[in-house]
Amino acid sequence: IYEVLCFVDSLSQKQKTFHKNAIFAAMKKSILFVCLGNICRSPAAEGVMRHMAAKAGVSEMIEIDSAGTYSGHVGDLPDVRMRRAASQRGYELLHRARQIREEDFERFDMIIVMDDMNYETVHRLAPSRDEAAKIYRMREFFSRFPEWSYVPDPYYEGADGFELVLDMLEDACGNLLAKLTKRE
Ligand code: 4NP
Repeated sequence: IYEVLCFVDSLSQKQKTFHKNAIFAAMKKSILFVCLGNICRSPAAEGVMRHMAAKAGVSEMIEIDSAGTYSGHVGDLPDVRMRRAASQRGYELLHRARQIREEDFERFDMIIVMDDMNYETVHRLAPSRDEAAKIYRMREFFSRFPEWSYVPDPYYEGADGFELVLDMLEDACGNLLAKLTKRE
């Protein structure tokens, strides 16, 4: 994709816009990150992924959103501890919490959950086997953290918990972005 975009960049402005839009439309992927409350892990994953996609110049190619399996925080901004930790790394988290719904399986290509409990809940919601195949665990994209099989819930933890979650999300989102933008 980078080589193609470099070629497109060498074209006139009008041709450039036309070709870029066509390429992004053809390749567009939509990703939904899911955790329990949608106020710590998944909105942070959304913020990290948005930031990385923008930096790589592929924002238009990837639609990114997040949701929770639990409805208790619907409408809330991310937890203030997560917003603070994320902002120190340059991520602004402005998502408003929402609960995942069955229609999300139609709208998204990948539904990426943070832990096994999220996986079970989301799997039960899948309308068919084909749609259930869109569910991934975030740990599938780790290149570090061999001792972890999930992204731990930081809600009842101290500040270290939030830093660990952000370290994991940066690792996983970087690998996910590389996977989505590499040439087939
Ligand atoms: P998250 O963290 O799933 O990463 O958003 C949590 C937020 C809230 C609760 C649990 C986990 N809660 O029980 O309210």
